Amino acid sequence: MSHQVELSEYKQQIADLYSRRSSTYDNGDWHPRIAHRLVEYAHIRPGQQVLDIATGTGMVALEAAQIVGAEGRVIGVDISTGMLEQARRKVAALGLSNVEFQLADAEALDFPLNSFDYIFCSSALIWMSDLVGALRLWYGLLKPKGLLGFHAFADTAFIEGVVAQRVLEKYGVSLLFSKPTGTVEKCQKMLQLAGFSEIEIKSELDGSYISLEKAKGMWIGNASSPVPGQYPNPLLQLTPEQLAQAKVEFDASLSALQTEQGIWNDLTIFYVFGRKPR
Ligand SMILES: C[S@@+](CC[C@H](N)C(=O)[O-])C[C@H]1O[C@@H](n2cnc3c(N)ncnc32)[C@H](O)[C@@H]1O
Repeated sequence: MSHQVELSEYKQQIADLYSRRSSTYDNGDWHPRIAHRLVEYAHIRPGQQVLDIATGTGMVALEAAQIVGAEGRVIGVDISTGMLEQARRKVAALGLSNVEFQLADAEALDFPLNSFDYIFCSSALIWMSDLVGALRLWYGLLKPKGLLGFHAFADTAFIEGVVAQRVLEKYGVSLLFSKPTGTVEKCQKMLQLAGFSEIEIKSELDGSYISLEKAKGMWIGNASSPVPGQYPNPLLQLTPEQLAQAKVEFDASLSALQTEQGIWNDLTIFYVFGRKPR
């Protein structure tokens, strides 16, 4: 795959966003924990071929590479050069020779059909422009009996998104965030539409209390940042005055949710698996 990718403006914004975040992305334990669980649930075996889509700093890819061993191979793809730089740095530190990282758009992959035993997409599916279209493309890249595994988040997850959605609806702005994959039924339906069978979805309650100040700081009101699955950012419909007023309402809604422990930030997650039939 080439070292240059043609990206739409939407995807270039995503790539730039994650490149800016790349040096601190691995801080904290939540991303590593859920990436590890996705790999763990998939039961990869030595000798297998694995594709990690939207690999980021390579959390899934690097764990998979250690399991598939010298006889196996792992490829991680991402559109963010900054994230891939971090991933390559980690490969070098671990001394692994069975994993490589490529700059590529997950929705325009040109690997040969029937190439991979496992395909993962950890914490990234909602960034795709066409969810079912992406799943169909990845289905083609799996070998018969191959397994796709991805994360999806409940439509109750991420307090800043849920509250912003509610506030911004009053301004005629509809933000999708996790809605397209926000229930087990929706995930199941998407996989069926893409041709997958033996669908298994593990739903796990997760979340933590965060401070009111932290929650307020998570306001998504920057219209020049990308939002998942929607381009251009629907916030561009609003005037600066409307956005400022929406922020006041956002803060007030959060204050109303405050408890003695802080604000509950739900992070309910679905580990979603589907198999390509024989
Ligand atoms: C939340 S991070 C997840 C990274 C990693 N999979 C993990 O679990 O830590 C989302 C990643 O998706 C990547 N991404 C978004 N859209 C993409 C696309 N169309 N093709 C490839 N990568 C994409 C971003 O660059 C970013 O690295």
